[in-house]
Amino acid sequence: MKNLFIRKSIAQLHRELEGDNRLRRVLGPVQLTSLGIGCVIGAGIFVVTGQAAHDKAGPAIMLSFVVAGLACVFAALCYAEFASLVPVAGSAYTYAYATLGELAAWIIGWDLLLEYTIASSAVAHGWSQYCQEFLATFLPRIPFVMSKTPFDYNPALGRLVATGAVLDLPAILITAALTVILIRGIRESARFNTVMVGIKLAVVLFVIAVGAFYVDPANWRPFAPFGYSGLSLFGKTLLGQTGAGGEPLGMMAGAAIIFFAYIGFDSVSTHAEEARNPSRDIPIGILASLVTCTVLYIAVAAVLTGMIPYDKINIDAPVADAFRQKGLPWAHFIISGGAVVGITSVLLVLMLSQPRVMLAMARDGLVPPGFFGAVHPRFRTPWRSQILMGCFVSALAGFLPLRILAELVNIGTLLAFAAVCAAVLVLRMTHPHAHRPFRAPWFPLVPLLGIGSTLLLMFSLPKENWWRLFIWLLTGFVIYFFYGRRHSRLRASLQKPPLPGEE
Ligand code: ALA
Repeated sequence: MKNLFIRKSIAQLHRELEGDNRLRRVLGPVQLTSLGIGCVIGAGIFVVTGQAAHDKAGPAIMLSFVVAGLACVFAALCYAEFASLVPVAGSAYTYAYATLGELAAWIIGWDLLLEYTIASSAVAHGWSQYCQEFLATFLPRIPFVMSKTPFDYNPALGRLVATGAVLDLPAILITAALTVILIRGIRESARFNTVMVGIKLAVVLFVIAVGAFYVDPANWRPFAPFGYSGLSLFGKTLLGQTGAGGEPLGMMAGAAIIFFAYIGFDSVSTHAEEARNPSRDIPIGILASLVTCTVLYIAVAAVLTGMIPYDKINIDAPVADAFRQKGLPWAHFIISGGAVVGITSVLLVLMLSQPRVMLAMARDGLVPPGFFGAVHPRFRTPWRSQILMGCFVSALAGFLPLRILAELVNIGTLLAFAAVCAAVLVLRMTHPHAHRPFRAPWFPLVPLLGIGSTLLLMFSLPKENWWRLFIWLLTGFVIYFFYGRRHSRLRASLQKPPLPGEE
């Protein structure tokens, strides 16, 4: 049993950084922050905000952004501490391996796979909606049967309903195109990303600056039509109203949904191996991208709910549609075009991150290294897992609705955040002298608040998500016990090395 907790040493992590099968160190702080923003601002602000304001929170969605943003700041500070402690690829997975042991690392790694794969599928949907909006301004619409997933959740009825469509073709096509780009290489991908982030920021600022002139403060009343709470425990409402399907409603329930908009800042840490100075630049990248996004989100939420009464917000392409409803077709054109570009960059970074977590797990022998650990001889990218991921994301995005995908991503990511905060807490107590170039401030308040706030958001999600998460984790345990545990390279050496800074 105790071998489930064997740890890697930092010296071992550094040794692994030498050798041929490695990624290129080409990213600086600006590129890392840009990758962070590239992965954060996307379908969340452009699509999910509309759904959350319309279905769950009303104008109080602004406060939902504050609550979700705070939970992310606590988690981000813990991520930054971890990333500076163990600055190699693989994100929270690698940190856990070096500090908490193999089983915890596996759980976190498995959870990250869920986060990146499902988040990519959800984002591909958002891309599809805005792409269709954009193209429709100058071309005929694509046939309806290819424009959406075959079913969706109807909050008024409280159940899934058929949409009449067969598949979301644009979502499948964008996933395939980005898979090809990502196989070509990280340097090219980062450059492409920087251009897209610039366009996206310009569009978000445009929405705030132009939209502000169309705000009618009367639309902010009532401010919280569904109340300020929205907590449930496995389907039992603890606080606040419930919807037709028994799901929690209110500002907190809105925060649990729009948490989706913040997902991605943690992906900066998956690029530690490609960073030129990881222990300084990874914390900068994480925190700078998170703070920028939080400020912009609150402003966009204020403008959107101020322009349109919350119950009239379009749920497919809410931001662009708000400008159309105000009689500004040119703004609709700019915003839908910018959103397509912006959401593309999110998809790019999410799809970039997952195979790198796989790569780290494959190097440790926890998943088959021949497939998941293969780095392309010319492009130096984890091409096989990139292709596999592309297939999964296309299938999920083509057939499962955004609402279901987004909630599932949220619960998985919140769990990973809570685990990282808990790990920081435990390690500060058990290994106070380990070398930490960046330390989360106000210890132990920050990790404790991180755990508390992520759990609170998890309890604000509909209960089905808990079951889906349990099934995912159970599958992970089965794979670990039948494959990972038997093939673990570290286990084979059966050592229990010291923590970073203690060697
Ligand atoms: N935060 C990412 C988005 O909003 C997942 O698209």
